Amino acid sequence: MNQLLARRKTCEGVTDYIAQAREGVLDAPMRQHYHFMPEVGWMNDPNGLIWFRGRYHLFFQYNPFDAFWGMMHWGHAVSDDLMHWEYLPPALIPDQPCDDHPKGGCFSGSAIEHDGKLYLVYTGTTNEGDGFKQTQCVAWSEDGVRFEKYAGNPVLTAPAGYDPANFRDPRVFAHDGVFYMVVGAKKSERAQALLYRSEDLLQWEFVNVLAESRGELGYMWECPDFFPLGDEGLYVLMFSPMGLGERKTVYLVGEMDFKTGRFSHHISGETDWGFDCYAPQSFLDGKGRRLLIGWANAWDWMPWWKDWGPTYKEGWCGAMTLPREVVMLPDHTLAFRPVQEVESLRDLPLVDGCDLLLKGGEARAVGCGAAAELDFTLDLAHTRASAVLLRLRVGNGRAVEVAFDLANAELRADRNNADGWSRGTCRAPLPMKGRETMEVRVFLDMDSIEIFADGGRVCQSLNVFAPAEQDGIEIEARGGEASVRDLRLWSLRRSIH
Ligand code: FRU
Repeated sequence: MNQLLARRKTCEGVTDYIAQAREGVLDAPMRQHYHFMPEVGWMNDPNGLIWFRGRYHLFFQYNPFDAFWGMMHWGHAVSDDLMHWEYLPPALIPDQPCDDHPKGGCFSGSAIEHDGKLYLVYTGTTNEGDGFKQTQCVAWSEDGVRFEKYAGNPVLTAPAGYDPANFRDPRVFAHDGVFYMVVGAKKSERAQALLYRSEDLLQWEFVNVLAESRGELGYMWECPDFFPLGDEGLYVLMFSPMGLGERKTVYLVGEMDFKTGRFSHHISGETDWGFDCYAPQSFLDGKGRRLLIGWANAWDWMPWWKDWGPTYKEGWCGAMTLPREVVMLPDHTLAFRPVQEVESLRDLPLVDGCDLLLKGGEARAVGCGAAAELDFTLDLAHTRASAVLLRLRVGNGRAVEVAFDLANAELRADRNNADGWSRGTCRAPLPMKGRETMEVRVFLDMDSIEIFADGGRVCQSLNVFAPAEQDGIEIEARGGEASVRDLRLWSLRRSIH
């Protein structure tokens, strides 16, 4: 191996490379203003989210050497407020026989604190010539910055009868003084989440199949997440299913029996209905909130996928969704709400609580914003319109059209005429029954739009690659009048480069 390649197998070598490469990238025009993204290169899933010694740690799937997916590292950043992030040296470098294949590496996983140290549990992916092999591995850190891999890795291999190429994304947690790990697995073309237990995070014993697909929930669950929520003793199992059409971030709510290691659910829902939210992971923060962050992009095996967008031309690709707070509602469905910290980015309001009564067919310009927040309430009791249309990133004869289709109880975001690049329409059922009002919050960043309707019960995230000056915002009533209340618009300040 030549010297340069050998250096790229060390944390110092990778950090030096990033320090040089980032100069040309940080001020590139398509960079997001307040969504986390890598300094350079490619990023996918959030990993190892944790509140550790008073700071937020975000790790992520990372290929610093190219703006496309490749051998996976774990990138690392820390924050005090979830909005401003400081990049740290990569936490995991693919440098072990079990995790250093060029089309493998250190795949997704999670973090936990134990004995004052920060432990990372991740999937090593390799191929020794007889197919990909995924195993679970451990690393730890005393200071939360420099990580050491366990010499006894891997700590877990796929059980007999399971596909060794689909055994990944360990989610560790503690319950009653015991550590547990949930791993995504595939058996006989069906997805399973396997449950293991351990006293020390190094020796693991199989407990049971926590939950499984009988065909109706896909053939593999990527990035399973499992956590208690609310005050009724219920648990949430969340995963990104493969082989389930347009459903790609599913949550199940139900009961956990730690004696048998089985989870049984009575609710199933969607974490995000948009094109661009995948592999979300949650964690509990110092304020007791259950927070969730997803990768704001998608994979080529998804039915509507086109590509990862044009930011590769600027030497980077990938961003995270806004951090969202997960809330259990009285009917045991979940709501996902942007964390309050995002309000600290608001500039003086451009529109400050305006009420609009729109006639059928009437469109109004509301203001401008490419990095902005727009909030309003649809007053359904005084609305006869069959649909309320919101046009975002308007300009150059283009726009993203978001339809609140009240007649058909559907939310649709259409990006076919958005930017000459993106395409597709994503849909979500809009709960209308018994609603007098519907709260809507929209977050625009340079390349992304996130819509939270009905208090976060319906979320849609999608990427859009329009130029910054294409920033108009319009609202229109169709098929009757619409009452829109308390409309507010802010520019959001830049918190990240
Ligand atoms: C999900 C995923 C994971 C895997 C990682 C590889 O997006 O496919 O299952 O660990 O990405 O980068």
